[in-house]
Amino acid sequence: MLFANTGVVFRPMRTTLSSRPRATGRLALRPFRRRDVDPLIEAVHASVPELGQWLPWVHTRYGRSDAIRFVRDSAAAWVEGRAFDFTIRDPQRADRHLGNISVWHTSRREQAGELGYWIRTDETGNGIATEAACRVLQIAFEELYLHRVTLRIAVGNRASERIAEKVGFTKEGLLRQEVLVKGEWLDHTLYGMLEEEFKENKQKYTELGWIV
Ligand SMILES: CC(C)(COP(=O)(O)OP(=O)(O)OC[C@H]1O[C@@H](n2cnc3c(N)ncnc32)[C@H](O)[C@@H]1OP(=O)(O)O)[C@@H](O)C(=O)NCCC(=O)NCCS
Repeated sequence: MLFANTGVVFRPMRTTLSSRPRATGRLALRPFRRRDVDPLIEAVHASVPELGQWLPWVHTRYGRSDAIRFVRDSAAAWVEGRAFDFTIRDPQRADRHLGNISVWHTSRREQAGELGYWIRTDETGNGIATEAACRVLQIAFEELYLHRVTLRIAVGNRASERIAEKVGFTKEGLLRQEVLVKGEWLDHTLYGMLEEEFKENKQKYTELGWIV
């Protein structure tokens, strides 16, 4: 639908997404399967101190029941169009879980969504989160037809702030005491990207090899 007075083209948001794998320059992103449970547990255990600093669901006894519940909920959320979780893999070492990246709707009326991610600690610093974030932004804007995607990053989480900066998110404000982590309410910075900004950045992402 075209709003003639503003020139804005309105495309109804989609809530279904193909489960086919998506490639980035170096990585493969795909939905979770039942056999991802063990690699997921292994990756969480290898990263508890770093993940636990910022993510409320992480604990040292993270085990089979947690991972099975996650994979089951993730499959249901995908089918119901509530959230789309991807396991991040290196095609050369496809049995190793490198991390998670997800996009979900925060408002269907406003065609808004949010991005979340984590990377196993022994693979950080290699640009994996940045590359995966760009690819999932592409899914958000070009396949789900979202209008706006946000990121909430705990104040002090410099690595995640760097991802927002590198990808070109705009810092929009402070969310006070947004998430409870280990008994402490953490302030978060809200970052946002609009569909038109993604379009402007796309050439750069391609040149950098983040999307193909
Ligand atoms: C944040 C996280 C996803 C980053 O993953 P990653 O694959 O290492 O990210 P990238 O390599 O794409 O980019 C990280 C950037 O942060 C920088 N960085 C890392 N630690 C940093 C620190 N302590 N201070 C400043 N910069 C830091 C890196 O140098 C890199 O920037 P550069 O490319 O300019 O050198 C990962 O560390 C993680 O999972 N952390 C715990 C969970 C979490 O915070 N999730 C995000 C919640 S919003």
